[in-house]
Amino acid sequence: MSLFTIGDLDTRRIDAILDTADRFRNADIEPPTKRSTVATMFFEPSTRTRVSFELAATRIGADVVSFDPGTSSASKGESLKDTAQTVVAIGVDVIVIRHERVGAPEAVARWTGSTVVNGGDGRRAHPTQTLADLLTIRGHFGSVSGLRIGLVGDIANSRVARGLIDALPRMGADLTLVGPPTFLPLQDEVATSHSLDKIIPDLDILYLLRVQKERGGASGYPSDHEYRTRFGLTSERLERTSAMVMHPGPFNRGVELDGAVADGDRSLILTQVSNGLLVRMAVLEWLLGGG
Ligand code: NCD
Repeated sequence: MSLFTIGDLDTRRIDAILDTADRFRNADIEPPTKRSTVATMFFEPSTRTRVSFELAATRIGADVVSFDPGTSSASKGESLKDTAQTVVAIGVDVIVIRHERVGAPEAVARWTGSTVVNGGDGRRAHPTQTLADLLTIRGHFGSVSGLRIGLVGDIANSRVARGLIDALPRMGADLTLVGPPTFLPLQDEVATSHSLDKIIPDLDILYLLRVQKERGGASGYPSDHEYRTRFGLTSERLERTSAMVMHPGPFNRGVELDGAVADGDRSLILTQVSNGLLVRMAVLEWLLGGG
C-alpha cells in the first residue's frame, strides 16, 4: 500500500483519515507500540511538508531517517534507484519522497517494494497537502459539501491544484478555476473564469496559488504588478467578499495576496500548516497498519 495521488483514496478512506487526524488533535488515540522507521527523501526544497512529515512520524512513535540529497551520495551521481535501494537496505518501513520528476514515487515503490508516500512530484500530485486542506475546510465549515470555492492562480503548473481539482468536486464542493488563460488547464470538466472580480462576491473560500516560477509560470503573465492588479487578493478585494482565504504556502506577499490579507483574521493559512501535521500522522498511522 502506498499513497501516490489523492485519486488513490476513495471518499470513505479520505473521511477515515480526516477522522483519525481529528482524533490525534483531541489526543484520544494511542500511538502504535511497535517502532517503525520512516525515511524522508526530499530532492526539492520544502519547509512545511518535510518538517511536518518528520514530526508526524515522531509523534506516532516511529523513528525518522532524514536523507538529504545535497549532502548524500546522490551529490556524487548515485542514481535515484541505487539511492532508494540503499535507504531500504538500511531498513525503513515507509519512504516519503519529494522529487521534481513526475512518477518518481511509483518508480521508488517498484524498485524497492517499499511503502511510499508522495510528498510532491513535479507538477502532478501532493496528496497530503490535499488532505490538510480538506481537514481545514471541514474544521472551519463543518463539511466540504456545497461550498463555493475559487481556486486562483497558476493552476496549470501546480500539483496542489491537481489534488484539489480531483478531491473537491468528489466531496461535493462547487469549484471554479480562476486565472489568466495561460494558467488554466485545457479541460472542461470544471468551471473556469478569467475574472476574479466577477466571481469574488459569491465565494465561501478563496484558495490562492503561488506562481510556480521554477516551472516556467512567470512566462504566463506580464509582471508581478500586472498579476496583482488582476488576480492578487488585495485588502480592497477582500472587502468585497466574506470568503475565507487559503494558500498552501510558500506565498509571495504583494503578488498573489497582500501581507495584510495573509496575516488577517480571514486567513486559514497557518491552520492548513498545523493540519498538515495531523493528516501526515494519520496517513503514516494508516500505512504502518494502525488505522
Ligand atoms: C507546495 C508544493 O511544494 O507543492 N507547497 C507545499 O508543499 N505546501 C506549493 C508551492 O510550492 O507553491
